[in-house]
Amino acid sequence: MKQFKKVLALVLAAVLAVVTFAGCGAKSSNKLLMATNASFPPYEFKGDSGEIEGIDAEIAAAIAAKLGKELEIVDTEFGSIIGGVQSGKYDMGMAGMTVNEERKQSVNFSDTYAIGVQSIIVPEGSDIQTADDLEGKQIGVQQDTTGHIYAEDDYGQENVTPYKTGNDAVQALVSGKVDAVIIDNEPAKSYIAVNAGLKILDTAYAEEEYAICVAKENTELLDQINTALAELKADGTVDNIIAKYIPA
Ligand code: ARG
Repeated sequence: MKQFKKVLALVLAAVLAVVTFAGCGAKSSNKLLMATNASFPPYEFKGDSGEIEGIDAEIAAAIAAKLGKELEIVDTEFGSIIGGVQSGKYDMGMAGMTVNEERKQSVNFSDTYAIGVQSIIVPEGSDIQTADDLEGKQIGVQQDTTGHIYAEDDYGQENVTPYKTGNDAVQALVSGKVDAVIIDNEPAKSYIAVNAGLKILDTAYAEEEYAICVAKENTELLDQINTALAELKADGTVDNIIAKYIPA
């Protein structure tokens, strides 16, 4: 019996050691945990299998490979990405995220990897023809995006309805709850391709740069990301990934 107890104790100790080790591995540097908001094609969207696909997912995978890390992507609300990165819940945020001064107060941004332009979507036959015609109209936006910020600044909060996702804003446009949607150009193109009766106005509303955000104190990861990005830009990987989703 004594012997048995001893063996049991040894086995337990071994099990504990393995568990502790595995637990350590999960938390430590071998994973690259990325937060995104996967309702933003072609940058991030859920594919048929439910997996998150798109330009950001592929660039992130290429970065993770260079860093020797395993990429894990978490889908969350766009507005909670920066806070989550800041608090260390996520290693990085990548979500077609525009670099701006306000966000720079909270997080650091990598070098940029893509350009975005804010577009205006309206129903075909709408009397809205230019950005000026939006005055006094109801505008749908994705909550906490730059489109949201610009729309409120330019047309007044009372004329802006924020939705949880870009797709929700577009569905509100389809059903006539809003008169226009302000959103980034490539998602705008993806949305009008699958929703009949909508068009994009021929006016570029604002030009922006997309980058990856990292916690301020995590300068080591930021440097690693920038080094990887530079290599992936130089060898054509970034261009190839973008061209795969955005045919010229
Ligand atoms: N570029 C805009 C911004 O940074 C919109 C990004 C929305 N991204 C998303 N994955 N839903 O505010």
